[in-house]
Amino acid sequence: MPRITLSGGSVNKAYRPHLDNQHRYQIYFGGAGSGKSVFLATRCVLDTLAGRNTLIVRQVARTLKSSCWNEVLKAVDRLGLRRFFAVSKTDHTLTARNNGAQILFAGLDDAEKIKSLTPRRGVLTDVWMEEATECAYADFKQLDKRLRGPSRHVKRLTLSFNPVSRDHWIYKEFFSIWQDRRNYAESPQVSILKTTYKDNRFLSPDDRRALEEEKDPYFYQVYTLGNWGVLAPVIFTNWRVEALPEPVPGETRLGLDFGFAADPCGFLLLRYERKARRIWVMEEKLEKGLTNMDLAALLRPYAAFGSIACDSAEPKSIQELLSLGLPVHPVRKGPDSIQHGIQWLRQQEIILSPACPGLRAELAAYQWQRDKDGAVLPRPRDRDNHLIDALRYALEGDMDRRLAHTGSKRALGL
Ligand SMILES: Nc1ncnc2c1ncn2[C@@H]1O[C@H](COP(=O)(O)OP(=O)(O)OP(=O)(O)O)[C@@H](O)[C@H]1O
Ligand SMILES: [Mg+2]
Repeated sequence: MPRITLSGGSVNKAYRPHLDNQHRYQIYFGGAGSGKSVFLATRCVLDTLAGRNTLIVRQVARTLKSSCWNEVLKAVDRLGLRRFFAVSKTDHTLTARNNGAQILFAGLDDAEKIKSLTPRRGVLTDVWMEEATECAYADFKQLDKRLRGPSRHVKRLTLSFNPVSRDHWIYKEFFSIWQDRRNYAESPQVSILKTTYKDNRFLSPDDRRALEEEKDPYFYQVYTLGNWGVLAPVIFTNWRVEALPEPVPGETRLGLDFGFAADPCGFLLLRYERKARRIWVMEEKLEKGLTNMDLAALLRPYAAFGSIACDSAEPKSIQELLSLGLPVHPVRKGPDSIQHGIQWLRQQEIILSPACPGLRAELAAYQWQRDKDGAVLPRPRDRDNHLIDALRYALEGDMDRRLAHTGSKRALGL
């Protein structure tokens, strides 16, 4: 094995004792930007040169490339070790030139690949489940079984994640040894390290500030403080119904969620006061079975108020409305945009005109999803959300970009 001297500061202090952690089950959890992923990628690179074979998994294969794969390559470069590795970009493997040990990557949504993956030499010694709260208990059990066979190395299963919800299976499985005010716990088989952004001296001042200024109490607990989150089942409580003042203050916004055969399409006219963080919802339309022609007729009276923000997933409908002379524009719909939108909306004061019973019903009923064990997931249930979607689209341009960073549990996936 090549002699590697880690320069004093290249690994955050909190993690240094764990470079050589030999526990079977290792848990690295805590707030966003705390250096978990970078540390584990770095350790994995060093371990490979020592002969360990690591499989890195996430729930969704497609997210691996932009996350763990990049982190591992960055770690190789940061340590100046590129010449010690053969990197295959086609099958996403790194192979140590000194001993043939490998780092392999797979998504749990690709069951065939997971089953067939084996290192070129020896057995798997390590599995790292990144963003493990996205993963099912059954997958964890399967991976645990994969870690067997003769090797001079202790087999290890490492989990990293943000503590999205206290009724998660990870909490039930491992956290009986945990005390909330401590940052470390261990038993003979299990080690648990909690870190936050304060443990990461490499974090940019902007990211640090965004975490410190987080307004949403749930996100502050989970992503800033790194504490286990408790999700109330109802998503929005920050709204009320009230007769609106005349004139309604703020700037006009319009949002539209397209309907399909069974789903209604939802439209909102509202005003937004940026300084006061106040949303005044003035009018709603919620109608089923409309053709785009019908829709155009319905929206025509609002055309003078400004451009209508629509779901970008329906370019054809947008095109049709445009050709019918309606001012509409698409808004971004990334995988995280729903969560970010919700996070932002929860920090506003929402006042509904009594003329908006549809939105009132949606807000009252809008809840987080639960998994099959009944645990609350940081994802909204995908139903009765037509006007809520229209609300997000209408205000998309007003949402604070910095928030997007802290809230992204890329599939909160939380
Ligand atoms: N040892 C390091 N050397 C250089 N930069 C680092 C190091 N550790 C962390 N960083 C920087 O801090 C950022 C956040 O770290 P990292 O992504 O590991 O946090 P995390 O705990 O995995 O966060 P999240 O919970 O959001 O996934 C990294 O993108 C990187 O820029
Ligand atoms: Mg991470």
